[in-house]
Amino acid sequence: MIIAIDGPAASGKGTLGKRLAEHYGFAHLDTGLLYRAVARALMDRDIPLTDRDAAAHAAQNLDVSHLEDDTRLRGAAMGEAASVVSAYQPVRDALLAFQRQFAARKPGAVLDGRDIGTVVCPDADVKLFITASPEERARRRHLELQRRGEQAAYETILEDIRRRDERDMSRSTAPLKAAADALTLDTTDLDADAAFDAALKMVESSRS
Ligand code: CDP
Ligand code: CDP
Repeated sequence: MIIAIDGPAASGKGTLGKRLAEHYGFAHLDTGLLYRAVARALMDRDIPLTDRDAAAHAAQNLDVSHLEDDTRLRGAAMGEAASVVSAYQPVRDALLAFQRQFAARKPGAVLDGRDIGTVVCPDADVKLFITASPEERARRRHLELQRRGEQAAYETILEDIRRRDERDMSRSTAPLKAAADALTLDTTDLDADAAFDAALKMVESSRS
């Protein structure tokens, strides 16, 4: 059983993916962490993000263990950098096999990202597309960064989110979009609990 979750930045994909995975006893992969880790590999070596060959090399040699526990990957700068390197086809190609192997885990897997329902797992049993208004997503990210102790103005975060959405939606390779057979959930007015309840109903109804 595969549950694919896609959507723009801070729509609540990760929170939802984790909770659905716990509910069903499935494995969960936040695929954004893979792209964030590729970006960080370059930044740690002072290699510009525009170096496509270096990005491809970093993706091919990525150590995918312990990404979940790495708090540095979750910073705002890393999300922005990830969206630059994620537009390179060889980077995406290098990360595909790992994601598909993960999706095959038994008894099931939940993967969240931008292209799970469209490219990574086009045959997923359930596809959810999670959205929320840019303002609500910026509000959430602002609170989250404050909790992490990162200083950032709400307006800056909103601009960053808009720019990143635009880049993710307009790239030629695996752009952010809902799969034709995805169920869309707008969480603008839903907190994490309400979003989980709504998503659970969608999963249950599409399984039966
Ligand atoms: O994975 P993604 O970037 O889509 O979002 P997330 O990391 O799951 O959620 C971003 C922040 O919004 C987290 O701090 C969540 O707790 C919060 N959140 C929320 O306030 N309401 C929701 N319906 C979902 C998430
Ligand atoms: O948590 P948030 O939604 O802000 O970002 P993320 O899911 O960690 O993804 C960071 C960046 O990686 C995105 O802006 C995308 O450019 C890229 N990404 C992607 O291209 N494909 C995926 N399956 C996941 C992330």
